[in-house]
Amino acid sequence: MTHKIAPSLLSADFGNLQAAIEMVNQSEADWLHLDIMDGVFVPNISFGFPVLKYVKEISTKPLDVHLMITDPIKFIKEIKGIGAYMMNVHYETCVHLHRTVEQIRENGMKAGVTLNPHTPVSLLEDIVSDVDMVLIMSVNPGFGGQKFIEHSTEKISVLKEMILRKNANTLIEVDGGINLDTGKKVLTAGADILVAGNAIFSTPDPMQMIAKLKTL
Ligand code: DX5
Ligand code: ZN
Repeated sequence: MTHKIAPSLLSADFGNLQAAIEMVNQSEADWLHLDIMDGVFVPNISFGFPVLKYVKEISTKPLDVHLMITDPIKFIKEIKGIGAYMMNVHYETCVHLHRTVEQIRENGMKAGVTLNPHTPVSLLEDIVSDVDMVLIMSVNPGFGGQKFIEHSTEKISVLKEMILRKNANTLIEVDGGINLDTGKKVLTAGADILVAGNAIFSTPDPMQMIAKLKTL
């Protein structure tokens, strides 16, 4: 299976979101990655449901929603309501992670579990087979344009080994500091989906960058 690319809208020009979403529609991107922040779990606030609803109206790509918020279980209905394909919750925000994952799936969405850079992959031993995707944060969540944390590559290898050992179909997504160089490294380590914000939206030709990331 060839890998997927999920551009992160966080680095787009918010003064012209429509153009950014239409660019992604026309590109080789597979999903559109949407970062929701609450200013509590992470030290930043991004955008919420009214914006997501607007994005959904324009986007032709499946929406990959990354919730950097406390108590994400409270918002499953809203995320379903905007038509998300994948709902990613942080391991660190879910006391009853298994229940959260079950409810996401019962609501017809794919369930992703996200790990902060300091959270070990080994904590997923008893849930990895029950989730559709694990999202490895390769920066501390909250901001675009940060530097890739090198140790993330090792975490991806360990996770890949766990998934293969359990004969699971769980996908691995990587988010933070991904460019042509780090993207290649994480794909070699076992990643299936690359999220990229700054690398795509800060170049003069974002569509071409998506195409380049796609052919890594
Ligand atoms: C960070 C977000 C990322 C961010 C990635 O908290 O989860 O999705 O947009 O941006 P880059 O690719 O610039 O690191
Ligand atoms: Zn993200």
